[in-house]
Amino acid sequence: MKRISTHSIRRKGRDGDRIVMVTCYDATFARLVEAAGIDAILVGDSLGMVVQGHEHTIPVTLDDIIYHCRAVARGCRRPHLIGDLPFGSYQVSIDEALRSASRLMKDGGVQAVKLEGGEHLSESVYRMTQAGIPVMGHLGLTPQSVHQFGGYRIQGRSVTAAEKLLADARALQEAGCYSLVLEGIPAPLASEVTEALHIPTIGIGAGPDCNGQVLVLYDLLGLDDRFNPKFLKKYENLQDRVVTAVSNYAAEVRDAEFPSEQHSHFTEPTQQPA
Ligand code: KIV
Repeated sequence: MKRISTHSIRRKGRDGDRIVMVTCYDATFARLVEAAGIDAILVGDSLGMVVQGHEHTIPVTLDDIIYHCRAVARGCRRPHLIGDLPFGSYQVSIDEALRSASRLMKDGGVQAVKLEGGEHLSESVYRMTQAGIPVMGHLGLTPQSVHQFGGYRIQGRSVTAAEKLLADARALQEAGCYSLVLEGIPAPLASEVTEALHIPTIGIGAGPDCNGQVLVLYDLLGLDDRFNPKFLKKYENLQDRVVTAVSNYAAEVRDAEFPSEQHSHFTEPTQQPA
């Protein structure tokens, strides 16, 4: 089975076929996400929060991302696979960006990389795409800039900020990005950017007019009742279901109900001599 390619992702955008993307970090969920018919999986640096327990994405390393990319790649065969370039792995120089992106492709087994930032990264994006590395851009409330923004604040609200974001989007497209994540921006701005580009946009907290949507898998499954931003729709309440299941297990172990005969092995009856 062939993976969905960057070309298919672009074609979907052109044909008005909504692109469905989720984040994923391990082989088990990759298998389930594939069974659900998802188009694209992002091994996002959001793993810093939902898997590693950090407050931000900043501490995530390239080795962390590669480790999780390999697990996800083993777990599914069809979804398009993107690896996130973490903070500090592409900002210092174009050479470093190329080196990090190449490692992510070779060792992580992904088809594309994603990076956060606009026009100032155009040269890096251009060099990567020339080297055969497909690049997904990411603009708006880019989490790696949380300290620069002074918190997780919606971006592009003022006229100047909106114009800058549109210019950044055009520059990334010009540099060779095959798609663009728009995060945490007003819906009308996301709509305008989507209209202005010929590459597909994938939104998160950016309204309904993007060519696709992405959510963090743990968020849409409702694994954390402390996280309730306006943009998030929870399609399950797995937090409660997991706590209930594990509590039931704990109660049965304490009451000596588990394991029962049904879940126990027995020695074979001894062979009688003929
Ligand atoms: O790391 C991540 O999960 C992301 C998505 C939210 C776009 O960058």
